[in-house]
Amino acid sequence: MDKVKHFLKKTKVKTFFIKGEKIKLLLKEDVFPPSINGIFVAENIIINPGETIVDVGTGSGIIAILSAKLGGKVFGTDINDASINLAKDNSIRNNIFGVFKKSEYLNCFSQKFDVIVANLPQDIVHDNYKEYIGDHLFQTISGGTEGNSHIINFLKNAHNNMHNNTRLYLPVYTDVCFKPILKEIQKNYDYKIIASKEYETREFVEYNKELFLKLNAEKKIKIFLKNGKWIAKEYLFELKLKQKNN
Ligand SMILES: C[S@@+](CC[C@H](N)C(=O)[O-])C[C@H]1O[C@@H](n2cnc3c(N)ncnc32)[C@H](O)[C@@H]1O
Repeated sequence: MDKVKHFLKKTKVKTFFIKGEKIKLLLKEDVFPPSINGIFVAENIIINPGETIVDVGTGSGIIAILSAKLGGKVFGTDINDASINLAKDNSIRNNIFGVFKKSEYLNCFSQKFDVIVANLPQDIVHDNYKEYIGDHLFQTISGGTEGNSHIINFLKNAHNNMHNNTRLYLPVYTDVCFKPILKEIQKNYDYKIIASKEYETREFVEYNKELFLKLNAEKKIKIFLKNGKWIAKEYLFELKLKQKNN
């Protein structure tokens, strides 16, 4: 059985059409390729011409490049050197300008952005799948044993890079322990859900059903069977700085 479906076996070029924009990307084996979850984020974020946007965990650069095509002034970060190099390469390929920096979250920036998009690793990845994909790719998807650690860590400081009107777009999945994420959101942010959709869970859910069924029974995650497939939901949150009452 082919155990790894999401990652690429060899480099390829793929064209995406999102919000009426054509984006041609080089995709490589050592960088996270756009998933249905990331494309859903790209399809639903709002970018106005002239706004400053930072794409946190840029991967192939898809969200940053789309944002630049929509008129944004674009920045991107990633912890992975291969991602930063690929995002720069893909920017040139798409005739856009972006500033891409190797950094954890937004740590390399002191400025405030108009828009922050954070499609960070958010999966509960079982050890046996980690063995198939190796440490390097594991770091591009793993959100720790509960799937939520990157999002929570990021939210603890993201408000420092926000002004009163900054929109922070954050996808939250129900096949990770999402309740601690909601709790963290409520500390510093006002929020609304701007889009949601069902998606078929990635292959490691099927391979590690016992673990995921246990978490489901404990109500830590929420997945369900539909037509013989395991389904979860993705919610796209728009966060703003919490307005302080006088
Ligand atoms: C799920 S992928 C999303 C990639 C891309 N945004 C997309 O939508 O296709 C998450 C990305 O976050 C990067 N990443 C992991 N830990 C990070 C961290 N602490 N700070 C910044 N980026 C990180 C990974 O290398 C990976 O490229």
